[in-house]
Amino acid sequence: PRVVRIGLLGLGTVGAGVVKSLKTNHQPIFEKTGCDVQVVRTLVRDPDKERVVRLDREALTTDGLEIVRDPSIDIVIEVIGGIEPARTLIREALRHGKHVISANKELIAKDEGALIAYAEKHGLRLMYEASVGGGIPIVRMVETYLTANRVYAIRGILNGTCNYILTRMEEDGQSFAEALRDAQSLGYAEADPESDVEGFDTAYKLSILANLAFSVPSSVAAIDRFGITKLQSDDLSLAARVGCTIKLIGEARVLEDGTVLQSVTPRMIPRADSLASVRDVFNAVTITADVVGELSFMGRGAGELPTASAIIEDLTEILRSPVPRVRRDQYRHTVSVSKS
Ligand code: NAP
Ligand code: HSE
Repeated sequence: PRVVRIGLLGLGTVGAGVVKSLKTNHQPIFEKTGCDVQVVRTLVRDPDKERVVRLDREALTTDGLEIVRDPSIDIVIEVIGGIEPARTLIREALRHGKHVISANKELIAKDEGALIAYAEKHGLRLMYEASVGGGIPIVRMVETYLTANRVYAIRGILNGTCNYILTRMEEDGQSFAEALRDAQSLGYAEADPESDVEGFDTAYKLSILANLAFSVPSSVAAIDRFGITKLQSDDLSLAARVGCTIKLIGEARVLEDGTVLQSVTPRMIPRADSLASVRDVFNAVTITADVVGELSFMGRGAGELPTASAIIEDLTEILRSPVPRVRRDQYRHTVSVSKS
């Protein structure tokens, strides 16, 4: 079999999920790709930390450049998060001829396509399925499947931590702080959970989807954003009394003049709306397009294994087609700030 050597940047929640899944599902991955995938070197901050996944001490390093410049490594998986050193390491990996997979929505959204263009210029793939919707294959679907369509709207629940907190506050009467602590201990929250609860994480994901679906530049600054920190249990009880629940909704839609409006905000959702039944860490996204109509997707939006699943989908896609897709250069729409 062809041996594929992986350099893993990060061994936290998602990195551990990748190592575990590649081990437990080594055989089906081999059967589907013909490749023996091996994680050979891993970047961490603290090599002496107690970990759920134990790797040989020699396989760990605190020097990411050692991994991305290693000529024996074929593919780099970035799961450290944040802008730096992630951006520099990804760029350096591409410069050294390696395909890259990243779960880093903040970087992909704020980078505005520069790393993707750099990868394509070098004939390499930079894949980021895990950056949106956890295990839901929504990036690939929007990017490759809707060729026959003009997409008009994207609407959904894109943050597992917020949906988990709102569900626990509504169903168990937990306080915001208790529910957030649980979401953190389950590995759903970002290293800085303000990104989740203030709606930034949803905004990054929405801008990634809008970029792919509407051919607009990804622009987080153009998103009208509110988080869930001001909500109290009483607000959820009040919503329940009028037959509704409250969800953090990301929405992007194209107006008749071609302008794209994007917002992230908690909304009252009637019980009859399918989004009302999306509980706990689940995410859901509905795409509205002219030919196909409405398409909806639901699945676990965070957590080690669903996220690892999306990363390994990217890995198998690279093994099947290592040549990058041709990028669209022309933007069809303009972005405008929506004030709700
Ligand atoms: P995490 O648990 O905080 O893990 C981060 C890992 O990166 C740790 O192993 C840490 O090392 C290492 N690291 C961080 N900064 C580093 C630095 N400067 N130098 C060397 N190593 C560094 O984070 P996570 O939850 O796995 O998330 C990772 C990425 O996946 C983020 O971009 C996140 O947004 C994205 N994501 C997460 C989820 C999820 O459910 N958690 C889902 C989808 C996408 P130590 O272990 O030594 O501290
Ligand atoms: N913190 C993110 C969430 C992880 O809760 O949705 C998945 O992107």
